[in-house]
Amino acid sequence: MALILNTGGLGYIGSHTCISLMKNGFDVLVIDSLVNSSRNNFERIKYLLNEIKVPYSGKLFFEEGDLRDTTWLDNIFKKQISINNPIDSVIHFASLKSVEESVSNPLKYWDANINSTLSLLSIMDKFNCNKIVFSSSATVYKARDDKKLDENTFQEPINPYGNTKMTIEKILKDLYLSDASKWKMINLRYFNPVGAHDSGILGEEPKSNPTNLFPILEKVVLGELEELSIFGNDWPTKDGTCVRDYIHIVDLSDAHFAALKFLENKPSQYISLNIGTGNGLSVLEIIENYSKLNNISIPYKFVERRKGDAASVVADNSLALKLLEWRPVKTIEDICLDSFRYTTKKLLI
Ligand code: NAD
Ligand code: UFG
Repeated sequence: MALILNTGGLGYIGSHTCISLMKNGFDVLVIDSLVNSSRNNFERIKYLLNEIKVPYSGKLFFEEGDLRDTTWLDNIFKKQISINNPIDSVIHFASLKSVEESVSNPLKYWDANINSTLSLLSIMDKFNCNKIVFSSSATVYKARDDKKLDENTFQEPINPYGNTKMTIEKILKDLYLSDASKWKMINLRYFNPVGAHDSGILGEEPKSNPTNLFPILEKVVLGELEELSIFGNDWPTKDGTCVRDYIHIVDLSDAHFAALKFLENKPSQYISLNIGTGNGLSVLEIIENYSKLNNISIPYKFVERRKGDAASVVADNSLALKLLEWRPVKTIEDICLDSFRYTTKKLLI
């Protein structure tokens, strides 16, 4: 079966995508510097496949290293050719992703995100590996509170992290245009990935201090935080708290398999697709669902609005639904139950 290079594949989205690809018969070669993940995740993926008996037929490999090390990367591509198992396609997750850190240390972000992508693309080009799925983000859009965001929404990121995502999309497009018959490229613009594998074995485990809603909820559940601070209750939304498009991590991972299949059937391609559910939920609705479904109380208080937040960020996902053999199937119930299961179980494994 074709071998997929999964950069950043031990991170939150990449690790779940390994399962999705292997279930569908692909072999997966993960490369990761472990800057925001650990080897534990490699063991967890293997444990999940073998002990929990998720049916799979693909094989899994792991090499530790930084994408910016072009010589190392070159050797990986070379080695795969020498053993007659060349890299067929790339899913490019590897990136730094903290909005706050990118504001305080923009050079670190431009170096990590742009130089790693340039290194990857130059080696892909050298070895004639021309299919890539890139992890982009809804953060590239100028938020509009009045309607869902489609792929033509004006782009205006408001922080260095978002600027690197928009820039990488432009680099990809320039490369595509340099030889439009050769490249097959998809930018998947994720909305808010949340939840965990329903086994409770895999989930989000950032090394640095989290600032996103679900990792903070987890801290409240574990008693590490007394209460959740909700950033504003005077937004122009249904209940005054911000609305987001939360997509279950397993649905999101499956979109990568669908994206690869889509590319396989095209002569060449450069396209951007929104990956979200198309439904918005407010912070209060999340808390209500989470506490009711898991039978726990989530103490919270309202605080000032967070700088840079938008009232509502919801995907118009109609293009992805039309072009990919994919649709999100998980519900907010799945999201809340799976998150809680992972939060309470991960201490035991
Ligand atoms: P993550 O931090 O959990 O995973 C990223 C992985 O990449 C980590 O394992 C890290 O160690 C690795 N990595 C980083 N730089 C590297 C380098 N130079 N060389 C090799 N490995 C490197 O993040 P995630 O949540 O899984 O996100 C995956 C991708 O999706 C990222 O590109 C992120 O920007 C994008 N994205 C994430 C979200 C989100 O909310 N999680 C939303 C939109 C887009
Ligand atoms: N929120 C709180 N309290 C918290 C944390 C979050 O009220 O302690 C609220 C935020 O105000 C926001 C919602 O919960 O309304 C979701 O916040 P997140 O930080 O989880 O997500 P964002 O939508 O702000 O940003 C996320 C990723 C970005 C990505 C963007 C794409 O963090 O990296 O989605 O839309 F770019």
